[in-house]
Amino acid sequence: MLPITLRKRLNDRIASDSLRKLGRHGDLVDFSSNDYLGFSASEEIYNRALAILKENRIQKNGATGSRLLSGNHELFAITESFISNFHKSEAALIYNSGYDANLGFFGSVSQRGDLILYDELCHASIRDGIGMSYARAQKFRHNDANGLSEIILKSKAKYANIYVVTEAVFSMDGDAPDLRMINSICEDNGAYLIVDEAHAVGVTGTGSGLVQELGLEDRIFARVITFGKALGCHGAAVLGSRSLIEYLVNFSRSFIYTTALSPHAVATILAAYEALSQITEAKDPTELTALKSNISIVRTRVNNCELGAFFLPSDSAIHSLIIQGNDRVKELSVFLARNGYDVKPILSPTVPKGRERLRICVHSFNTASEIEQLTGILNKALF
Ligand SMILES: Cc1ncc(COP(=O)(O)O)c(C=O)c1O
Repeated sequence: MLPITLRKRLNDRIASDSLRKLGRHGDLVDFSSNDYLGFSASEEIYNRALAILKENRIQKNGATGSRLLSGNHELFAITESFISNFHKSEAALIYNSGYDANLGFFGSVSQRGDLILYDELCHASIRDGIGMSYARAQKFRHNDANGLSEIILKSKAKYANIYVVTEAVFSMDGDAPDLRMINSICEDNGAYLIVDEAHAVGVTGTGSGLVQELGLEDRIFARVITFGKALGCHGAAVLGSRSLIEYLVNFSRSFIYTTALSPHAVATILAAYEALSQITEAKDPTELTALKSNISIVRTRVNNCELGAFFLPSDSAIHSLIIQGNDRVKELSVFLARNGYDVKPILSPTVPKGRERLRICVHSFNTASEIEQLTGILNKALF
């Protein structure tokens, strides 16, 4: 039994061919997960996480409470310190997920009398966090730094604080903003910049993300990093000043009113970060080199065939092929699955109508021949 209003919403989804369903994990070649470096299946990280628990004499399955009550086990401080060193930030605060981090950050930091400006393609978790805040919110056109500047100049006098949020790599388009320019606009106007690095950590630059790649770590108000993508595990953190972290501990509801991550989850985050820092310090960073080489194979392959015109430009691990219509994009995804490839269709309303797409995620562990075959099959199917 479902209330009629809810049944109608589901029926509307069915009618527009956009009903979401939980899929089954198949045996296909992975061109869809966020596991960019293959860390989720790393035996070394798995074993190292167990060793960390042993070294710290922790034999517990759960955190037993919020971090403000009984849940703040010792691995949090160790891991937050490792992460803030790695990311060159004054402090770090771990959340249960990136969704929670964005909800808790934007829901508590921006206040009535403030303005939040967000890129129109920002992730749902950012928009939901903004929705929880009493601040006024306005979107700016995707990656349009000049448009952002105009809004700031017009609004500056009316608001106590202006917050600007963008992503280092956009989760659906795979592109990046001109962060230097956005940062200087914010600095010139006293606005606070927040960068969500979910899809850049482990991928951009030497793996530490876009902010560090550009040397902006001391000039940005906050970064959100997540561990469910290239780190291959789960959770997230806000990076910022000690006073910002103190504020979040006191006011961020998704941090306060939830059971903390288990010791095992935090040990896995630490082990994954140790692995990432080994990669970034190595002269020949294996997984990262393989990932970057695969990204460039995809770009070359795509640009050398008719498909090229339909791909969004991207230097990241995310490559989106625009195919209008939920039915068409779903059909193509099923066709690829029959050929052994897991590429997810991204439907409207997740993306705007007419911008439906196949979202190809490239990994360190994909082979050149898998990439050649996938792009070859797609080119044949579409032309
Ligand atoms: C840009 C961005 N921010 C935040 C999140 C949420 O992160 P998590 O999966 O850890 O909840 C995602 C997840 O897809 C994302 O793409």
